[in-house]
Amino acid sequence: MRRVASGLVIVSAAAVLAACGQSAAPEGGAAATTSGAATPAATATATAAPAIDPEKAALLASLPAPYNTGDLENGQKQFQLCRSCHTITEGGANMTGPNLYGIFGRTAGTVEKFRYSEPLKAAGFVWDGGKLDQWLADPRGFLPGNRMSFMGVKDAKNRIDLIAYLKVETGHKPGG
Ligand code: HEC
Repeated sequence: MRRVASGLVIVSAAAVLAACGQSAAPEGGAAATTSGAATPAATATATAAPAIDPEKAALLASLPAPYNTGDLENGQKQFQLCRSCHTITEGGANMTGPNLYGIFGRTAGTVEKFRYSEPLKAAGFVWDGGKLDQWLADPRGFLPGNRMSFMGVKDAKNRIDLIAYLKVETGHKPGG
C-alpha cells in the first residue's frame, strides 16, 4: 500500500514536471471539484499529490533507492524532531546542533565554528544516506560519546522519508 502511494507521488511529480511552463492551475483541486462526490480512488490520487516544487520533485526522482520514493511531506514532518537544534538552510545558524546544509558528502564533524564532541570530530567518515540512517536509528549506539541528546527515529520508513527530505533541502546534487 505504501509502495503504491509512493508510486503515485512519483507519477504526480512527473505530471507536475510535464505541466511546468503551462498554467499554474491546481489540477488535482479542479479534478476533485468537478467529480463532485469524489470516488475513493479520486480522493486518494488527490491526497497523494502534494504541492512539490518541480525542481525538488526532479531531485527526489534522481536520488538512489530507496530515497527516490521518499515522501517529502512526511520527511518534513519528521524534521520537526530536529528543528529545535538544527537549521538546514544555506548559511543557517549553528544552534545546539550544527547547521546541516551540505551535510551529504561532507566529512562528519567539520562544520566551521561548531564545537563538536571528540568522537564526532574524530569520526572521519563522510555522511551519506546509509550513515545518516544508522545515526538516526540509534544516535548513541552509532557513535558512543557523541553529544546529540536525541532518542532517534525508530521507524525505518520515517527515516527514509526524512533523509530524502534532507537530501532535497540541503543542496545535495542530483545523481548522488
Ligand atoms: C537536542 C538537540 C538535537 C536534536 C533534537 C537533534 N540533534 Fe542532531 N546534533 C545535535 C548535536 C549537539 C550534534 C553534535 C553532536 C556532537 O558533537 O557529538 C548533532 C549532530 C548531528 C549530525 C552530525 C553533523 C556533522 O556535521 O557531522 C547530524 C547529521 C544530525 N545531528 C542530524 C540530526 C537530525 C536529522 C535530527 C532529527 C531527526 C537531529 N539531528 C536532532 C543536537 C540535536
